[in-house]
Amino acid sequence: MIDTQLEQATNFKRNGKKTLKEITNPVSENLSEFRTFYKQALRTDVFVLDKIVQYLLRQKGKEIRPTLVFMSAQLFGDVTERSYVAATMIELLHTATLIHDDVVDEAEIRRGFLSINKVWTNKAGVLLGDFLLSKGLLTALDYEEFKLLKVLSDAVKKMSEGELRQFKAARLFNMDEEYYFKVISEKTASLIAACCECGAISTSDDEEIHQKMHDIGMNTGIAFQIRDDLFDYGVDDIGKPKRNDIQERKVTLPFIKALENASLMETIRIRHLMWKRKKSKDEIERIVQFVHEKGGMDYARSIMNDYANRALDELSTLPQSPERESFENLIKFIIERKK
Ligand code: IPE
Ligand code: IPE
Ligand code: MG
Ligand code: MG
Repeated sequence: MIDTQLEQATNFKRNGKKTLKEITNPVSENLSEFRTFYKQALRTDVFVLDKIVQYLLRQKGKEIRPTLVFMSAQLFGDVTERSYVAATMIELLHTATLIHDDVVDEAEIRRGFLSINKVWTNKAGVLLGDFLLSKGLLTALDYEEFKLLKVLSDAVKKMSEGELRQFKAARLFNMDEEYYFKVISEKTASLIAACCECGAISTSDDEEIHQKMHDIGMNTGIAFQIRDDLFDYGVDDIGKPKRNDIQERKVTLPFIKALENASLMETIRIRHLMWKRKKSKDEIERIVQFVHEKGGMDYARSIMNDYANRALDELSTLPQSPERESFENLIKFIIERKK
């Protein structure tokens, strides 16, 4: 039986928990202004590019990263133009990496729509991703925001390193827990850390604060990716393919832990299954069941909670305020979300 406890526990409406809309309410005006900035940044005269961009703009993500920028900014003052520049850059860079990631992962669905590579081929995915990436970095130059450019170029470099490291591990099949944390710190948490840092940079000159927000973002980002990796083994519709990590031989925390808990014979059997390039539906479900039965899900969930708690603890060293409470709600949402 697939464990549905997590999915039940994360059903906000039933548990009376806050929806994302409620959580982002304190920054809703900032988000709507950000969307205008974002659309503007994507303007192009190239007809075919514009067609794909229009398709892209119809599929909104959760906008967690811009939300983190504004909420981090608000901890230290009123949102500034700099905050908008940071949020726009980050969402451009994030979307670029998703488009590239779907080419690498051969994923056919993104944000509930067919992925760019599925509709327009891998080549278009690579080119559109490049376009967004360059637009993201150029936005900093348009506004002469060199500090943001530095922080975000660094994050982009780490993200590529993380994706490459993961790619290499998938090929060699030598992923362990330590390696997994390195990969997710680079490919996901580095950008989430940059969100919090850039938000703080936009309203505070205190470098200690920038570092603190960076650390909070790292811990939040690690929890964020563990939540994402749990989805692949879950039962909910998440607006992107499930079981794709398994099909693509992407080894994540629930699987790593389940293997550790298994007997040698089981380990050999499951590793052999995971190793197969083309797996049947039945084989995939056998892997899913194994991970659930061997405690992989419970373990990953508890580690995810640990990281979220670290972020919350660090946050609690800042003065109590409604803005801090909004930020806390967002961290809680990140580990309880359903997509
Ligand atoms: C997906 O990020 C990529 C990961 C780091 C797991 P999101 O889940 O934030 O994607 P969108 O922007 O809401 O689609
Ligand atoms: C995160 O990894 C991808 C990036 C950081 C670009 P995943 O491959 O798990 O992301 P999804 O599940 O496709 O969104
Ligand atoms: Mg992917
Ligand atoms: Mg994923």
